[in-house]
Amino acid sequence: MRVFLILALLTVLCAAAVDMKKYKRALKNDSRLRKLYIEKFGAADLTSEKLTNFKEALQFVVNQNENPNIGWESDVNFFAPRSQEERNDILLKPDTSTGYDVSGLTFPLGSNAEDEVDWVSAGYISEVQDQTVDCRACWAFAALAALEGRYQILTNKSVEFSEQELIDCVYWVEDRAQDGCYGGHFADVFKFLAKFGHLASESSAPYSSSVGSCSYGAVENALTDAHLDGSKSYSLVSYDDQTLIDTLLDGPIATAVQTTQAFLFYSSGVLRDDTCTSLIPNHAVALVGYNANSFRVKNSWGTNWGDGGYMKVARGHHGCGMIFYGVIPNLVEGAPTTKDITKPPKCNDTWGASFCSNYLDYCQYYMAYCKKSCSEKLGIACE
Ligand SMILES: *[C@@H]1O[C@H](CO)[C@@H](O)[C@H](O)[C@H]1NC(C)=O
Ligand SMILES: *[C@@H]1O[C@H](CO)[C@@H](O)[C@H](O)[C@H]1NC(C)=O
Ligand SMILES: *[C@@H]1O[C@H](CO)[C@@H](O)[C@H](O)[C@H]1NC(C)=O
Repeated sequence: MRVFLILALLTVLCAAAVDMKKYKRALKNDSRLRKLYIEKFGAADLTSEKLTNFKEALQFVVNQNENPNIGWESDVNFFAPRSQEERNDILLKPDTSTGYDVSGLTFPLGSNAEDEVDWVSAGYISEVQDQTVDCRACWAFAALAALEGRYQILTNKSVEFSEQELIDCVYWVEDRAQDGCYGGHFADVFKFLAKFGHLASESSAPYSSSVGSCSYGAVENALTDAHLDGSKSYSLVSYDDQTLIDTLLDGPIATAVQTTQAFLFYSSGVLRDDTCTSLIPNHAVALVGYNANSFRVKNSWGTNWGDGGYMKVARGHHGCGMIFYGVIPNLVEGAPTTKDITKPPKCNDTWGASFCSNYLDYCQYYMAYCKKSCSEKLGIACE
């Protein structure tokens, strides 16, 4: 029995451990490097540029894992063969109007009402999905991790909602220049749901990693037993540790993060990353639990990334922004009032057709308010 336990333990340890000897040998010998690359990613589209990127990533991973001051493990993953520019394909464009100066700030731990909470093992979190490098949809995945968990806590119904509907519709109705694969924000999801009250299930609108047309009128609504509070669809979570863990006790939180090399190549353990400094976010994730020293984080980069798709980040630390940008949906029991998801007409008379018809001679002043009537009168395209 004891032997078996020790064997089992060893297997677990070995499975988690990165083969450092092999990695270091590969760094010294190009034919071994090539072999290791092919072992990890196949030979199909191996180029010298990818091999160079891989080598740099491998060197980073070895340096990290040999640094005695680092308490987490790194490993090469799908980011490794990609150039920095290609790595950015999956990340949001940093919004430089945000950010925090955290120099000198400390994040004292709160006193836990419960020692730990894990919404994953409790069965409230759907499987980790892969947003893929073709679509910057992290915001939709982070929003739905928080929504699905809280929906089930409130209604006792486990529903996987559709990221695809959000990617197709949230920015389309607002007529923004961006689309859902360009990027977005999880708070916009909760505003959208409060307004239209419709969200398909994952199975009726599965993720396609590209933007499609927003036509969900005939798709069954999966948001049936609770709705978003119309007067306040979401709340910001204060960044002190006590509020965060108290909020996590009630359910998961969507949040944003500045990713660094250490984040991209994280594989296990508790990340405590001091290489992020401005905390200007370029990615969204969800906090789905905590224990005495860490938060558990759900990502959307597939189960081969990180620790089965998840990561742990240190408490008592800024978490590269995760501590600052938390948002929760305000769910209320009861069916939503649904409204057809339509875009307000771009070309209309915001001051009303009767006003505009009286002032058609003054279109130079009233064009902005009488777009439709004035465009017709002047015979120009209306937009
Ligand atoms: C590199 O590794 C290969 C085995 O993969 C070995 O045959 C070769 O001698 C090594 N080259 C050097 C310069 O060590
Ligand atoms: C919640 O749902 C589960 C499984 O669907 C069921 O076994 C359980 O009785 C439900 N609990 C309540 C309080 O309705
Ligand atoms: C006209 O368009 C504006 C801007 O798109 C919108 O806010 C407004 O609700 C529209 N008015 C009507 C009557 O549709």
